[in-house]
Amino acid sequence: MKIAVVGTGYVGLVTGTCLSEIGHTVTCIDIDQKKVNKMREGISPIYEPGLDELMKKNIQGRRLFFTTNHNEGFEEADVIYIAVGTPEKEDGSANLSFVEQVAKDIATHVKTDVVVVTKSTVPVGTNDWIKEVIQNNLVHNVKVDLVSNPEFLREGAAIYDSFNGDRIVVGASNESAASIIEEINKPFGIPVFKTNVRSAEMIKYAANAFLATKISFINEVSNICEKVGANVEEVANGMGQDSRIGSQFLNAGIGYGGSCFPKDTKALIQIAGNVEYDFDLLKGVVRVNQKQQEILLDKLNKRFNSLEGKKVAVLGLAFKPNTDDMREAASIVITKHLVEKGAHVVAYDPVAKENATKILDSNVKYATNTVDALKDADVALILTEWNEFKDLEIGTFVENMKLPVIFDGRNCYDPKIVENYFVEYHSMGRPSVK
Ligand code: UGA
Repeated sequence: MKIAVVGTGYVGLVTGTCLSEIGHTVTCIDIDQKKVNKMREGISPIYEPGLDELMKKNIQGRRLFFTTNHNEGFEEADVIYIAVGTPEKEDGSANLSFVEQVAKDIATHVKTDVVVVTKSTVPVGTNDWIKEVIQNNLVHNVKVDLVSNPEFLREGAAIYDSFNGDRIVVGASNESAASIIEEINKPFGIPVFKTNVRSAEMIKYAANAFLATKISFINEVSNICEKVGANVEEVANGMGQDSRIGSQFLNAGIGYGGSCFPKDTKALIQIAGNVEYDFDLLKGVVRVNQKQQEILLDKLNKRFNSLEGKKVAVLGLAFKPNTDDMREAASIVITKHLVEKGAHVVAYDPVAKENATKILDSNVKYATNTVDALKDADVALILTEWNEFKDLEIGTFVENMKLPVIFDGRNCYDPKIVENYFVEYHSMGRPSVK
């Protein structure tokens, strides 16, 4: 199959690369010439483990191409994937202007029948609207079918997830378009679940909203655990062993971030609102998530009368490990608060520094490794559970810090082990060690 992928953000680039890996000829289109030049050399603009290697392999195999030219990309394509961004508007709804532009470009350039696949996360009903935009602008007399094929990849594990996903959702209004997409995906060996277009669009939002709900739920439970002397990790384990609940996404902490959960939960609230339905539960999920960061800060402020002039070592800035993505990272709100309180913030993240410098307050300083960040610090805050931090000897905090006080927003250490050291350790939903 000849495939074009429009948009080489995280979704588009991973999708295009993995489709080339299973044998398709894929042309990825992006308007950014500099980015395209880099990708042609096999250099990914995002940090995603394993992606560069896979890109290089398929570029050399002449199955993966990059261009800024829509004509070149669309000309012979049997299938076109739309994978451009749908950023959040101020009111929480999804901004579809990039999608609209792609629809118009497709209408201008396609010369043969084509299946258009939407990978971008779009509100229910958008695929029908995209079809209309394409039909209204078509230059040549060709047949265009729309398929909704949402992605369920996690950043940092996107390549693994592409080959090991639980299901591939294909939402189409006719069987022939659905079977083309089913055929394309066959080599992945992942079960295909066919639905109508609107159900597929809804599955994506509902799945992300449900996962976000699990996180906010366990975070509220963790707040209660702290007050009643329970340990949220034990509680989550005990709950998760019930297969109806499942053990995943029950890690308490400073809440979810990233480019998906915050945006998609708010968008689903909007989608519901548009049909006069008040999605009250999901509103609570969003509120709880914001509150989690404040809870960590409250604990810190209670412990220290003032943070003025205190050296605070921040370990981890990315919204989660194995990514350099800073979008909606808890570190944004937390470091802002620390700087406002007059703290001297020294942060270290294994890969997110470059992105962090563009977003965080200019008063935040950056260390090049953990030990440098911890040197003479009054307190350490762990905001991302990188393995590098999880594997740290607790002694490293003792040896390097002025006062070994740790506030762990991601429950990286076992309090039973920490007890053996001369440290003060506060985590989320578990008894403190003093
Ligand atoms: C999420 C979904 O997991 C993917 O299935 C989906 O395709 C993707 O959004 C998307 O819509 O594109 P992602 O945002 O990459 O993927 O990251 P997750 O691994 O799901 O983590 C999201 C956030 O939740 C992180 O900030 C993480 O720290 C937090 N989290 C996760 C918790 O606080 N507790 C948990 O138990 C799990």
